[in-house]
Amino acid sequence: MTDITDVGGGFDSARFRQVLGHFPTGVTVITAGKGSDRAGVAIGSFFSVSLDPPLVGFCAGKQSSTWPRIREAGSFCVNVLADDQEHVSRAFASRAADKFEGLGYSPGPFSGAPLLHGALAWIDCEIEAVHDAGDHEIVVGRVHDLGVAEENGPLVFFRGGYANLR
Ligand SMILES: Cc1cc2nc3c(=O)[nH]c(=O)nc-3n(C[C@H](O)[C@H](O)[C@H](O)COP(=O)(O)O)c2cc1C
Repeated sequence: MTDITDVGGGFDSARFRQVLGHFPTGVTVITAGKGSDRAGVAIGSFFSVSLDPPLVGFCAGKQSSTWPRIREAGSFCVNVLADDQEHVSRAFASRAADKFEGLGYSPGPFSGAPLLHGALAWIDCEIEAVHDAGDHEIVVGRVHDLGVAEENGPLVFFRGGYANLR
């Protein structure tokens, strides 16, 4: 509480990250594009927005090299990772030249974006709106198709590390 501030409010960025890290999230990989134009990034900020119309969202960092490619594609597929896919999360959080290396996937029925094999669920979307939000942008997607692929446990991210519900 007494940290010198560099983000305002009497706390520094390390404190902000540490406290917010106590909120557990699932882990998704958001993919876009087809063939050699495919792109993907690990995203923990995915959220459900609206049932009617069906909308979901996520927060994309302005420093991300993948978000501009998703935006350009205009559509994306959310892949909800299973608890045996920590390696997939790590690959898509990296800046590896080919994040898809060694992974199987099929084209999403609406977007054509990679639907990763082994993911629990997929949500295929069109970008509906993008809102400015500090060092991120809030992306709202209209859901065109979705499905449950596996009935396994989810991959969880908590206090800076991976966990599961088993
Ligand atoms: C568990 C986890 C959750 C993440 N959640 C987000 C997120 O919600 N938004 C975001 O922009 N980056 C998030 N990242 C960081 C990105 O996965 C990635 O590291 C960053 O965008 C740089 O890669 P890029 O240049 O390919 O975009 C997360 C990383 C991890 C490991």
